[in-house]
Amino acid sequence: MDTVRNMVVMRFPSRAINIGFARTAIAIFASQLDFTLDELDEIKIAASEAVSNAVIHGYKGREGEITVICRLFDDVLEITIRDEGEGIADVEKALEPAFTTEPEERMGLGLVFIKEYMDRLVVESTAGKGTSLVMTKSPVQARVSS
Ligand SMILES: Nc1ncnc2c1ncn2[C@@H]1O[C@H](COP(=O)(O)OP(=O)(O)O)[C@@H](O)[C@H]1O
Ligand SMILES: [Mg+2]
Repeated sequence: MDTVRNMVVMRFPSRAINIGFARTAIAIFASQLDFTLDELDEIKIAASEAVSNAVIHGYKGREGEITVICRLFDDVLEITIRDEGEGIADVEKALEPAFTTEPEERMGLGLVFIKEYMDRLVVESTAGKGTSLVMTKSPVQARVSS
């Protein structure tokens, strides 16, 4: 993972309608690599889970800004999704299956899906300052053929 081949930065308000926009825009960016349709679906799920977490948990319905940075390396897609919201009190706990701070409404599986569907996930969060997720994925085909 060395030279950046392409890059897109998106910044938008934390409205539910923008979750679908980000999901599709990220998938279109990702399609520059040889991902299978299944892999693109996994990327879409990871993207929408991350952006909806920013909307729901980061800003709790208040209006804030979400930043998405997509970077393309030779055969690696890197997606950064950042909010300047509440932050996560205990990141390790948040990553546990079925852990949610909203047990009546949610299943606590969003971060689990992201970890499962992407090759790598790094979560950085500071209470009161916000959260940043960096996730990477390579097409399985690229790894086999190169
Ligand atoms: N961007 C975020 N800002 C603040 N808290 C978050 C963020 N993303 C996740 N969390 C915390 O981590 C928990 C687990 O997230 P997740 O696995 O997506 O499950 P769910 O969204 O169903 O609660 C959330 O309940 C929330 O407390
Ligand atoms: Mg979630």
